[in-house]
Amino acid sequence: MGINRRDFVVKTGLAGLGLAGGSLAHGSLSADDLHRREDAAGQDQPGQTKHTQRFNMSGFAAPPLERVRVAIIGLGQRGPAHIYNMKHIEGVQIKALCDIRPKKAHAAKAKLAGSAHEPDVYTGEEDWKKVCERDDVDLVVVTTPWYMHAMMSVYAMNHGKHVASEVPAAGTLDECWQLVETAEQTRRHCMMMENYCYLPFQLMTLNMARQGVFGEVFHADCAYNTSKMRNNFSKNLYWDMWWLRQYAARRGNIYPTHGLGPVSTIMNINRGDRFEFLVSVESADFMMNARARELAATDEFFRPFAKETYRGSMSVTTIRTSRGRTIMVQHDASSPSPHNLIHGIHGTKGAALYDPQPPRISLGNGAWVSPAKFEKLKQKYTPNIVKKLSELASQIGAGHGGTDLLEDWHLIDGLRNGLPLDQDVYDAAAWSSIVPLSQQSVLNRSDSVDIPDFTVGAWKTNKPNMDIMLERGGNTKILV
Ligand SMILES: NC(=O)c1ccc[n+]([C@@H]2O[C@H](COP(=O)([O-])OP(=O)(O)OC[C@H]3O[C@@H](n4cnc5c(N)ncnc54)[C@H](O)[C@@H]3O)[C@@H](O)[C@H]2O)c1
Repeated sequence: MGINRRDFVVKTGLAGLGLAGGSLAHGSLSADDLHRREDAAGQDQPGQTKHTQRFNMSGFAAPPLERVRVAIIGLGQRGPAHIYNMKHIEGVQIKALCDIRPKKAHAAKAKLAGSAHEPDVYTGEEDWKKVCERDDVDLVVVTTPWYMHAMMSVYAMNHGKHVASEVPAAGTLDECWQLVETAEQTRRHCMMMENYCYLPFQLMTLNMARQGVFGEVFHADCAYNTSKMRNNFSKNLYWDMWWLRQYAARRGNIYPTHGLGPVSTIMNINRGDRFEFLVSVESADFMMNARARELAATDEFFRPFAKETYRGSMSVTTIRTSRGRTIMVQHDASSPSPHNLIHGIHGTKGAALYDPQPPRISLGNGAWVSPAKFEKLKQKYTPNIVKKLSELASQIGAGHGGTDLLEDWHLIDGLRNGLPLDQDVYDAAAWSSIVPLSQQSVLNRSDSVDIPDFTVGAWKTNKPNMDIMLERGGNTKILV
């Protein structure tokens, strides 16, 4: 199945930005439009040279908020998961809920029945703007399909709100820059909620890396390899089949951050090193079009999907950093292989590997340590934030083994105590930029593509800011 620049028509969610009209996907870009976007996205790197950092958001702390008034936009799968966590966190007031599907919006509000929260419900197509414009909201949580995230996040920051965006935070390079520019201009947090950064083994290996156990970490392997075939072809799981449309609309790694977030934190990306360039290769699609055709044989709903070509079954991207280190990022959302994040850390003195399970540590003699030694290392290097996680999660039970609760709790705790948040807008931009840049590489026969320095040189002096030992704050209670 050939994909070339001339005839490839990309369909993205850019209709909301006024760049495209609707078709099967949420807007289609012609080949000419695509070329223009590619040029804007990378070849002349417009923001790279023009952007002047107005204010360094790395380590930024906003004035403390005793209570955090929250609005949530997008109430499909992910929005309600955040509501569940937020209602259990001290100091949170959920003020507004917004979804264009009234049933989803009201169902989300019903989950708060009997609690202290009495949010207003919004259901109009453009009501998300009204939510951002309210003067009694501090934090907007954006949980719509990801190609809408940047548009909503920028609008929210421009109306004085902090933003917590689901992953990825942006779908184009231009949007990545808009996030950076708006955060610096408004001095509002723009945190991408990369919950995989809070997995216990990922945090333990972050602590080990910080303690020098792996020596100099020079390479990491990471992935989000998990079959989403059933979900993506379900007629009633995601709003308007948006995930399947994205797999038809784009090429490259469209979901890089679950794997990339934790390893970038370990490698101090944007704080001592930065992504410099990437190459991306993808296989042909061996599964999605076949599945669409199979379903279309008996269900006409799937006929338009059977005419689409889809992103390849396996996407492999290699990033090289300015300090000469490398990261391999994979994404496979269709094969029936077991779930795999890899999370392989390779250093001059040791190594770690999360998947395939069980997780393993090497202390550098060419072998993995024994299970007994692993347990000892776990006791020694599990950071305080993970100890807190077990304590909090056991109190209420929460998604992804309590990881999601820890993420929301530490966000709210940071805002209440006026502390820097765990990830900043430069992380959101750099990690999300792999979406458009891997596409650009794939469409150019895997040419190398420069990755902009969203910190404009500040990475050389920025300090690590994920407070995994809970040296500050940590006093926000969980309400059982
Ligand atoms: N971090 C994680 O583990 C994780 C897990 C799942 C999803 N996600 C991310 O969360 C986001 C949402 O995914 P999901 O699974 O909840 O999708 P979903 O389709 O279930 O929910 C999206 C919701 O957005 C609503 N929506 C669409 N346009 C809107 C508009 N203009 N205004 C208000 N609401 C609008 C839809 O009606 C839908 O209810 C995605 O970006 C996804 O990548 C992250």
